[in-house]
Amino acid sequence: MIRKANIKDKEDIIRLGNLVNHNFSNVYDMDEYFSNDYNVIYLDIENGKIIGMIMAIILYESCEILNIVVEDNYRRKGIASNLMDTLISEFPESIEILTLEVDVNNKNAIKLYQKFGLEIINTRKDYYENSDAYLMGVKYERC
Ligand SMILES: CC(C)(COP(=O)(O)OP(=O)(O)OC[C@H]1O[C@@H](n2cnc3c(N)ncnc32)[C@H](O)[C@@H]1OP(=O)(O)O)[C@@H](O)C(=O)NCCC(=O)NCCS
Repeated sequence: MIRKANIKDKEDIIRLGNLVNHNFSNVYDMDEYFSNDYNVIYLDIENGKIIGMIMAIILYESCEILNIVVEDNYRRKGIASNLMDTLISEFPESIEILTLEVDVNNKNAIKLYQKFGLEIINTRKDYYENSDAYLMGVKYERC
């Protein structure tokens, strides 16, 4: 089951965030995050346990994915794809572009994003502590 997160999910969000970024709690203040309407988080829940999340900023015509993570034991089951699907299907009409940064060495995540039409637009040197990032994105045609 996928649902939108709220501040009561803070501890689970931090637990999942720490799986991708050991500095997660310093980068994201959850109280502040939820105080802004343009920030969203969707959670995947399996047997009552929160095991995956996608975090994004939706502002004007653009959406930026900040994080996507699935707990180790639950990977390769389509959960990240379902989270991406949910985020995209809930986009307001205004969204024209989806972007994100990803570590150039994170082949699995890059494949996931390519499945959703995102392409590598640029390389951001030294974006992470020890590596570069790809800026990836996809533009949507609106009729
Ligand atoms: C990247 C991540 C979110 C993928 O989650 P997931 O639930 O396993 O992804 P899915 O099962 O939906 O897989 C979607 C696609 O991603 C690619 N993929 C994901 N894991 C892969 C792996 N281990 N090997 C090869 N391809 C992989 C595949 O193309 C896959 O499609 P397919 O199953 O049709 O081949 C997960 O591995 C993760 O949490 N990694 C650590 C956090 C991270 O790096 N997040 C991204 C940066 S913020």
